[in-house]
Amino acid sequence: MKKPNIAILGATGVVGREILKVIEKINLPYEKIKLLASAKSAGAKVEVMGKILTVEETTPDSFNDVHVVLASAGGETSKKFAPEAVKRGAVFIDNSSAFRMENDVPLVISGVNDEDLEKHKGLISNPNCSTSQLMLVLKPLHDYAKMKRLIVSTYQSVSGAGLAAINELTQSTEAALKGETFENIKFKKNIAFNIIPQIDNFCDNGYTKEEMKVTNETRKIMHLASDFPISCTAARVPVYRGHSEAVTIEFEKEITPKKAAEILEQAYGVEVIDNPDKFEFPTALDAAHKYPVYVGRIRKDIAFKNGITLWCVADNLLIGAALNTVRIAEYVIKNGLYNTEKEN
Ligand SMILES: NC(=O)c1ccc[n+]([C@@H]2O[C@H](COP(=O)([O-])OP(=O)(O)OC[C@H]3O[C@@H](n4cnc5c(N)ncnc54)[C@H](OP(=O)(O)O)[C@@H]3O)[C@@H](O)[C@H]2O)c1
Repeated sequence: MKKPNIAILGATGVVGREILKVIEKINLPYEKIKLLASAKSAGAKVEVMGKILTVEETTPDSFNDVHVVLASAGGETSKKFAPEAVKRGAVFIDNSSAFRMENDVPLVISGVNDEDLEKHKGLISNPNCSTSQLMLVLKPLHDYAKMKRLIVSTYQSVSGAGLAAINELTQSTEAALKGETFENIKFKKNIAFNIIPQIDNFCDNGYTKEEMKVTNETRKIMHLASDFPISCTAARVPVYRGHSEAVTIEFEKEITPKKAAEILEQAYGVEVIDNPDKFEFPTALDAAHKYPVYVGRIRKDIAFKNGITLWCVADNLLIGAALNTVRIAEYVIKNGLYNTEKEN
């Protein structure tokens, strides 16, 4: 089978740059690679696999000779270009929330529900970053003891909101240390030395859109009922990279913390660091730039029967975005789930 031409849409963004690094690291098979962004970055030079490539402005015709698109350029850009790419016979793997909840769009976490990719119709969605790390932890536990109820609190790093948010943490921290005032741009409150209990807009039910993404995406990926009880609180914390989550799960069947740890130790993409006697547990700094989801503080929950509470952290730019996108592309390519008849 001939190798596909691939395009990275949003190649100059935080996630796009990580995608390029992961492609190189896992040696994704491809024939040609094209870097796409907005007119603002057209002409910029980026090194990929030792070669200097020029970033191109995205137009519908950018996808004429492309088989697989790895997109992380925001929802509006995806809505504009995904139909154009699919019309031209490309598979469009999207990091934005634009298509995640559409019935005929597979929402996939590699290692959890890859089989859903077989049914794709051109569009594939990558879940929200907070959902992604959670799925790798929940799936093996659910397979053993069947989840009954889920409560999650997230502590999300600023890189989850893109390059501008990373810069805002630096600038607002510098201003705070100098005793200067700082005008917030990306965030609704000052992020320096603070925690903001709001990510994205509020919905009618009082939850934020981010919290409802975790809720609805978890139900879809794990094939749970559309009213499966999940409650999420999502907060932004002054951390550059790595999302942390406190997770409480009530199960149908009894499961001890020891058994949960044993299951997670064997689970795909998960590493357990849980040695309270030595104060060993994972933090965002431990997870930054790494591929696994780390789990610690596994304990019997004292508020629920058959309950387990744990702490999990992962690199949001990798597990929550770039790594999963590239792994989906790898599955699509290795299983010939793209238009192999299209000319290179
Ligand atoms: N950061 C995360 O942890 C994370 C996790 C999961 C999903 N996502 C999603 O991934 C997407 C990108 O996030 P990010 O954090 O990488 O954002 P970012 O750093 O702001 O990068 C945005 C990218 O999109 C490009 N772009 C913007 N408008 C465009 C247009 N009209 N046409 C073509 N390209 C355009 C930008 O190109 P220019 O350089 O030319 O402006 C840039 O390459 C978002 O949908 C986000 O929700 C992010």
